[in-house]
Amino acid sequence: AVFILTADFIKNRRPANFPPGPWQLPIVGNIFTVNHNKAHENLMQLAARYGDVFSLRMGQTWVVVLNTFEILKEGLVTQGDSVIDRPYLPLQEDVSHGRDMIFSNGHLWKQQRRFALSTLRYFGFGKKSLEPVILDEFTHCAKVFRSYEGNPFNPHLIINNAISNVICSLVFGHRFEYNDEKFTRLMKLFDEAVHIQGSIWEQLYNSFPLLMRRLPGPHQRVLHIWGETKKFIGEEVKVHKLNIDSSNPRDYIDFFLNEIQMNKGQSDSTFDEQTLIMCVLDLFGAGTETTSTTLRWAFLYMTKYPEIQEKVQAEIDRVIGQSRQPTMEDRANLPYTSAVIHEIQRMGNIVPLSLPHMTNKELQLGGYIVPKGVMVIPNLTSVLFDKTEWETPFTFNPGHFLNKEGKFVKRAAFIPFSAGKRMCLGENLARMELFLFFTSFMQHFTFSMPAGVKPVMDYRSGVTLAPHHYEICVTSR
Ligand code: HEM
Repeated sequence: AVFILTADFIKNRRPANFPPGPWQLPIVGNIFTVNHNKAHENLMQLAARYGDVFSLRMGQTWVVVLNTFEILKEGLVTQGDSVIDRPYLPLQEDVSHGRDMIFSNGHLWKQQRRFALSTLRYFGFGKKSLEPVILDEFTHCAKVFRSYEGNPFNPHLIINNAISNVICSLVFGHRFEYNDEKFTRLMKLFDEAVHIQGSIWEQLYNSFPLLMRRLPGPHQRVLHIWGETKKFIGEEVKVHKLNIDSSNPRDYIDFFLNEIQMNKGQSDSTFDEQTLIMCVLDLFGAGTETTSTTLRWAFLYMTKYPEIQEKVQAEIDRVIGQSRQPTMEDRANLPYTSAVIHEIQRMGNIVPLSLPHMTNKELQLGGYIVPKGVMVIPNLTSVLFDKTEWETPFTFNPGHFLNKEGKFVKRAAFIPFSAGKRMCLGENLARMELFLFFTSFMQHFTFSMPAGVKPVMDYRSGVTLAPHHYEICVTSR
């Protein structure tokens, strides 16, 4: 034991000029310094104590946390070429075997990110041609909401299904009915997985993979669920292969299958079926949980602040009326509604620590040196709730995005999608979905809590910070 502790002490001394941080336990480092259910809050407290750039050790892995707008801008944008990589995360690796886009590096990441962006752009990612897909999905969703008129119901799975259907239309070329048993089961499993991930189990798995791979526990369930999801995607790919017309690709999968054919024999090609399945899983996973969670926060905020809900509805009634659906062109004429959506995203803070990055070169930041190969966490919370950036950082206030004349104003510190070369690939799609869905909901429904129930604004942590399950009432307008 003395030998192990001495070796640990020597191996894990803080390098010279490395960012400061709290005292560490042998072997496990700071794993227990941070409560994984409220990691972003703990990291804010540590930043107040150790500064805007500080370090922790998670097991045997050094982590540097970046705080404040200036530091994040310097780290992710100005010196962004030094922090493009993602760290090696054993749980992720055991799901993807290095073939996904979100957690890959180098050539695979570049080729797949470029391909995903150009293919999704082709299908109107962030442009007009996606509008009808989203608006059609709203119509399906509204029908289900209306069936509960006045009676409390949990909107979670319905919204997940609706948002997921937009991604499904892009990648699979079709949507799923809300009563499709197979898909509903998948959505439920998915919700289970995203809340085990982001917990202490993921941290333990990533810190002690050799041990955790052998131990039973919720982490095994996560592996099982992602395995099931891959099988589901694999079946879609099989059907696509049977009826593909390569001169007329219908969706992301068809485009990818074409790339596999065209790149056959090229040694640097990353187009193969395993990568296809993993990249679809990425889009499906990243594209469903995030936007769906934001909309579930939106409903809660509207019940908590009925006067804000009324103001949004009045603006929509004035600009759009009740006889047509909203379009993206309406956004410019709906400054208050846009401000409310931005404030929901800021307060919802659904990806509070972004995704982890890793230095691929030495990074000099805030007077410290971070060598190559160190995990970097962009603390988006430190920017979205910064006292020096927002007038009332902890209070819901659409005024953060409005000037004195009531015009919408962009705020540089609004960075829920992160910044730099790794920033969210789906930002345009997410913004479009949020605008069209939220505006449509406000146009057609008034949201309230069931009699005698107050909205719970506390979060449930997982892959995203999500609201706890809740029931809501809708009244048609
Ligand atoms: C990455 C936020 C919606 C796909 C990210 C990151 C954040 C984020 C913070 C990490 C960026 C970084 O590493 O610095 C959000 C939020 C969303 C949203 C708040 C909705 C409100 C979407 C949607 C898609 C998507 C709809 C689907 C197309 C991705 C992908 C990445 C990513 C593929 C990884 C990018 C890479 O590693 O190069 N997102 N996202 N996201 N997001 Fe989103």
